[in-house]
Amino acid sequence: MSFNNLDQLYRSVIMDHYKNPRNKGVIEDGSLTIDMNNPTCGDRIRLTLDVEGDIVKDAKFDGEGCSISMSSASMMTEAIKGHTISEALAMGHEFSQMMLGNDYEITEEMGDIEALSGVAKFPARIKCATLAWKALEKGTKEEE
Ligand code: FES
Repeated sequence: MSFNNLDQLYRSVIMDHYKNPRNKGVIEDGSLTIDMNNPTCGDRIRLTLDVEGDIVKDAKFDGEGCSISMSSASMMTEAIKGHTISEALAMGHEFSQMMLGNDYEITEEMGDIEALSGVAKFPARIKCATLAWKALEKGTKEEE
């Protein structure tokens, strides 16, 4: 696949998550609620997690933001569901590496998150892409 085709594929994956967000909403009796905002634009996200033992049983997000932040949240909730907190944080680490333009490893079970790899070229949008992952990190670190 040529670079341009891949770019287009990634763009359509991002728009699909933006228009048809997975896991949108709030888990009413979830064990963790994390609010996070992007200080540069004021966009915000609320992440709710249902954690049983060490496993993320369910994850939902709500909020307002640009297509990058909302699609990233949709992809993130899909990726972490069914995984342990430490696996989820390890995914977040790989995602950050990808945003920094460093080597990264995104496995198939991490879903569509690699579609955001192009954001690394636009430093102003990196905060958009990492908003949901920052929320995850904040909430699970407070938990420890
Ligand atoms: Fe606000 Fe992207 S412009 S999160």
